Amino acid sequence: MILVTGVNGQLGFDVVKELKRRKIECLGIGREELDITDKDVVFDYITGLMPECVIHCAAYTAVDRAEDEEELCAKVNVYGTENIAKACKEVNAKMIYISTDYVFDGQGDTPFEIEGNIKPLSVYGKSKYEGELKVKELLEKYFIVRASWVFGINGNNFVKTMLRLGAEKESLNVVCDQIGSPTYTADLAPLLCDMGMSEKYGVYHATNEGFCSWAEFAEEIIRMANLSCAIKHIPTSEYLTKAVRPFNSRLSKKSLIDSGYNLLPSWKDALGRYLVELK
Ligand SMILES: NC(=O)c1ccc[n+]([C@@H]2O[C@H](COP(=O)([O-])OP(=O)(O)OC[C@H]3O[C@@H](n4cnc5c(N)ncnc54)[C@H](OP(=O)(O)O)[C@@H]3O)[C@@H](O)[C@H]2O)c1
Repeated sequence: MILVTGVNGQLGFDVVKELKRRKIECLGIGREELDITDKDVVFDYITGLMPECVIHCAAYTAVDRAEDEEELCAKVNVYGTENIAKACKEVNAKMIYISTDYVFDGQGDTPFEIEGNIKPLSVYGKSKYEGELKVKELLEKYFIVRASWVFGINGNNFVKTMLRLGAEKESLNVVCDQIGSPTYTADLAPLLCDMGMSEKYGVYHATNEGFCSWAEFAEEIIRMANLSCAIKHIPTSEYLTKAVRPFNSRLSKKSLIDSGYNLLPSWKDALGRYLVELK
């Protein structure tokens, strides 16, 4: 039996959908069923359920708000993750923890290897990295999977924002100097399910293939949706946000390839399928 946290979020929703499609016994839970920050409740819940694997998709994901809510962000992403890991250890369950490109310092223009320059620039990135450390400290049977620029059917994301604004406005300013890879939850979910069925533990990067800037991503969204809004490329210095984001979010997939997992399809292919799913 596989337990999935964060079922009401983008990724958790699609992971449960994929497990059900494969007819794998699973349970998706949201905050109402289990607040992951409640240590004793988490322990009792998971030890009572005895899952073989926990795919931990719940997280505090408000990147800018986290700059003002450091304690709450850590409570969920560091200690909530620790609570889950401790319970997994008790019942000898595998754990899959989803992490992020924001653990890196964003310097350079080559893809980050797994052990690349880890230096989170934001409160959120730091909390996700500390979550990784908790998982590594406590468990042997773990997968840490770093994704980036996630979009899925169940929640808000950059694609939905561009579709909405692109239909309303004649032009939009979008940053062109942050480069990374979008990740479609419907493509990541099958990989996570494969991992849950395997024993090739370790740290992985998993995103759709290919790199782009946010501006290029926006242009493709507008083009595929047949909208006429112009995308103006602007530097990050003209679009300041509370949290600092990495310029370079390229992630190397070497560990995925070395372990024999399939790479995810290209981000353009993923975007095309996502737009169909949205209709
Ligand atoms: N979104 C991205 O661009 C991105 C990029 C890289 C990595 N990731 C990682 O990918 C994973 C999935 O992201 P996502 O986009 O699917 O996130 P999401 O849509 O924000 O979903 C996260 C879910 O976690 C739940 N949650 C928050 N605090 C909780 C708590 N104390 N107890 C139980 N549940 C709680 C939220 O519930 P509520 O709705 O009740 O708050 C929400 O449903 C996360 O680990 C995230 O850090 C995301």
